[in-house]
Amino acid sequence: MTYVSTSFWHDAVNKATTDLFSFGYKHVIKPMVFAQHPDDAHEQMIRFCDVAAPISPLMWALREMLDYTDPVLETDVMGVRFANPFGLSAGLDKNCDMPVLLDNAGFGFETVGSTTSRPCAGNPHPWYHRLPEYDSMLVHAGLPNQGSLKVIERAERAWTQAKTMQVSISIARTNDDKVGDINEGIDDYRISLERAAGRTAMIEVNISCPNTTVGEPFTQAENLDRLFTQLDEVTHPQPILVKMPLGVSWPQFRDLLTVLSEHDVQGVSIANLQKDRTGLDVPRGWQGGLSGGPTYRAGNELIRRTYAQFSKNFAIAGIGGVFTAAQAYEKIRSGSSLVMFISSLMYRGPQQISILKRGLSALLRRDGFAHVSDAVGIDA
Ligand SMILES: Cc1cc2nc3c(=O)[nH]c(=O)nc-3n(C[C@H](O)[C@H](O)[C@H](O)COP(=O)(O)O)c2cc1C
Repeated sequence: MTYVSTSFWHDAVNKATTDLFSFGYKHVIKPMVFAQHPDDAHEQMIRFCDVAAPISPLMWALREMLDYTDPVLETDVMGVRFANPFGLSAGLDKNCDMPVLLDNAGFGFETVGSTTSRPCAGNPHPWYHRLPEYDSMLVHAGLPNQGSLKVIERAERAWTQAKTMQVSISIARTNDDKVGDINEGIDDYRISLERAAGRTAMIEVNISCPNTTVGEPFTQAENLDRLFTQLDEVTHPQPILVKMPLGVSWPQFRDLLTVLSEHDVQGVSIANLQKDRTGLDVPRGWQGGLSGGPTYRAGNELIRRTYAQFSKNFAIAGIGGVFTAAQAYEKIRSGSSLVMFISSLMYRGPQQISILKRGLSALLRRDGFAHVSDAVGIDA
């Protein structure tokens, strides 16, 4: 793939349309979306993607207006080529309805899922609560999805049809009343891994969903070792990342990384939702983990320490509270080769991808970096 630097004219148009999108989202779309319960708003957003994706002129217009390319952002991570380091994090597109829009909007990659071996209804509603004062969403969905048989098939199609975007699939353990012991959990992950082998650019193994009935048994080192001893037996050409928990102590986190370094794992995604509500005014009756603002600092600290001690073992995908290019740049300088986000898209709008890419390009050039990969870990 060759990416051509944007011309001055295209660049000016792109900047103007991005500003227009920002204005339109803030003053027209967001008030309408935020007038609804977030569970309904999410459902409608997915339905909009299904309707809009086949309308080719609309997708062409989206690409013309939003896509921003720059060779400084191109990068190779874990043997995968990315047009830029920005991806959608797991959870917004559980059943793979969004790739056409995200590809045309200029995302470097998308993580579809999390999906599970059996179709899963998730927890009783409400799944989401907005906390705008913290740029955060409280999430208690419990992995609802149509099952990895269907979702992986769609992700494979999306990956092969995407113009520039890479597609990753997040697999998790089914959260239903059939869950059993640790061995059952291991078999559950294995089924989805076997289904995903060779069919996407990357696979993310989610061991850290805070909203399931069985908790997070694979964030204990011994169980994690048993899980990956089984998963190592599955042949898969694409790299594996592991979605790590937030809010565990560094010694516990380091133990998990040590276990993973002895297995067939190429990357770590840092991190999942924030469970610690200290200092935050969150209604007691609201269950779930926090996204956005409350994840930013804790995530960066783990990224920095992971890069300092494990950069030879893993590539890092940094996640959590990225709303500005400066925040993305900090994740990169702390050790992230890739950067993912969700809350930023929900609170600021689809033009965020353009804003982040343009802003990151400017910061990299200001500091004399020829490639985004040159800045990875510079502050770790
Ligand atoms: C609506 C929503 C659903 C999520 N579902 C999942 C999921 O299914 N699997 C997963 O690994 N993480 C899930 N997450 C966590 C995100 O992938 C991400 O780690 C977290 O939101 C921090 O990123 P952000 O601050 O950019 O939102 C979800 C987050 C949100 C907001």
